[in-house]
Amino acid sequence: MALRYEQNQQQPVLRKMTIDDIPEVMEIEHEAFTLPWTEEAFRNELTMNHFARYMVMVIDGRTIGYAGMWTIMDEAHVTNIAIREAYRGRKLGEALLVELMNWALELGMLRMTLEVRVSNEIAQQLYMKLGFSNAGIRKGYYSDNNEDAMIMWCELAEAQGHLEGSVE
Ligand SMILES: CC(C)(COP(=O)(O)OP(=O)(O)OC[C@H]1O[C@@H](n2cnc3c(N)ncnc32)[C@H](O)[C@@H]1OP(=O)(O)O)[C@@H](O)C(=O)NCCC(=O)NCCS
Repeated sequence: MALRYEQNQQQPVLRKMTIDDIPEVMEIEHEAFTLPWTEEAFRNELTMNHFARYMVMVIDGRTIGYAGMWTIMDEAHVTNIAIREAYRGRKLGEALLVELMNWALELGMLRMTLEVRVSNEIAQQLYMKLGFSNAGIRKGYYSDNNEDAMIMWCELAEAQGHLEGSVE
């Protein structure tokens, strides 16, 4: 993973997630999702799932975002992406997803996919901005309110223009 932000302390640092990051990641997870993953789920991802890749975004020593994916064959499946509420709207989520997509490309992935709540228009806007498109619906995917998921896909080679242009 390219650590392109580390040169400048004013900029967020992006690096691989470790077990020590989990407590702060859990704070964000609970803030961001109505069906939060457990600490054990993250621990298993980092220690037992060979397909899993996770990164965190850190500003002044504080974890303010994270994202993850499973890389299976030539497809990257995004598992989660979130930015701390107080840091949203500053293009940090976009920078995080761009970096995840670049990491997937480096790992030889051709496509990236994810599920997003049909009501989550903010995330959908972000994904569309970076080259994802709607590929269908999973009915009743979310167990808390039986909400449908929109399935989105992105051809990473085609999205490369977005990726290069997006990181300032
Ligand atoms: C989705 C999320 C990661 C976006 O992070 P963010 O740092 O706030 O977003 P950015 O500032 O990088 O915005 C990037 C793009 O996202 C979209 N976006 C962000 N905030 C938006 C808003 N309030 N309304 C509409 N679109 C918005 C826009 O396309 C924006 O690009 P633009 O500013 O050029 O219009 C963040 O809102 C979040 O953590 N949400 C809770 C968790 C979540 O829903 N994760 C996705 C699960 S599938």
